[in-house]
Amino acid sequence: MSKASIPILLFISLSLVLSACAGGGGSGGYSDNEDERIIVLGFSQLGDESEWRTASTNDIKRAAASAGVQLMFDNAQQQQFNQIKAIRSFILKGVDVIAFCPIVEEGWDNVLEEARAANIPVIVVDREIKTERDDLYTAFIGSDFHREGVKAGEWMVERFADVEGPVRIAEISGTPDSSPTIGRYYGLREVLADNEKFEIVISVSGDFMRSKGRECMEQILLETPDIDILFAHNDDMALGAIEIMEEHGIIPGQDIVIVSVDAQPSGIEALIQGKINCLIECSPYVGDDLMALVFKIVYGLPFPENTFTETRVFTDQDDISTLPTRPGYRP
Ligand code: AHR
Repeated sequence: MSKASIPILLFISLSLVLSACAGGGGSGGYSDNEDERIIVLGFSQLGDESEWRTASTNDIKRAAASAGVQLMFDNAQQQQFNQIKAIRSFILKGVDVIAFCPIVEEGWDNVLEEARAANIPVIVVDREIKTERDDLYTAFIGSDFHREGVKAGEWMVERFADVEGPVRIAEISGTPDSSPTIGRYYGLREVLADNEKFEIVISVSGDFMRSKGRECMEQILLETPDIDILFAHNDDMALGAIEIMEEHGIIPGQDIVIVSVDAQPSGIEALIQGKINCLIECSPYVGDDLMALVFKIVYGLPFPENTFTETRVFTDQDDISTLPTRPGYRP
């Protein structure tokens, strides 16, 4: 039995006790037979733009199956209106809990009010939302993107401590108006604000995609070729940019220092090869914690309102053998 199954089994046993005590009928996705209650979770994934996103989708599907949660999964193909449509269809179907990874921060109030009116708890996963009303969702589980930007900046300050400057930074940011882009953008600037030798000379959006990371790097080399650091908001864009650097005879990791966020398997591989110098961890593996949260919410147990993943920093100075073994990485 995997470690992850143990808490879930505890919840299942607890749920049987609770339902026996309550003696009440089920609601939403519950079956009529109390012993066969199955929790139904409607999950709206924002798309499949990156290696991180694929890992997130796989992890949620795996965790739901291992917890015995019935998952209604929808892929919004990078469109907010598809996510809103999916959430509405989950409400109509009367799922027990809705979870979604919001593509952008704003524009969710109406659909969340509809979920609230239908008495369906909502868990915001991965990215945060911006709303005046904090009663519109039940819990958040994901990463602290601002902290990631701060850690990237701190590493740059340390790495370039002995360099007089100016130190010129090019930034490839993620999807506009999304919380990781906003958090990483401002986190970096917060650290560098008091350090005059650092200059962010160009910032372009690569939408978290490898192909767009390539396009962005072409643009950077055309507009501001003289850069010391590339800060990419995810591994995919860093890897796209690396391909372009190599096509131009630039040695990634040497001629240009590269800092990226995620630390997914191909990012770690590039770190090992010396093509990326620093990786800020952003973990997509929240599936088991999400299922535990779902059980707690459904059975009225205390639960954390906010759960944040760990943010480790991996660098080209690390002992390679200490780098994390990840699902799909060096099996
Ligand atoms: O929301 C998390 C971000 O989205 C990851 O950094 C990126 O790779 C993904 O597409």
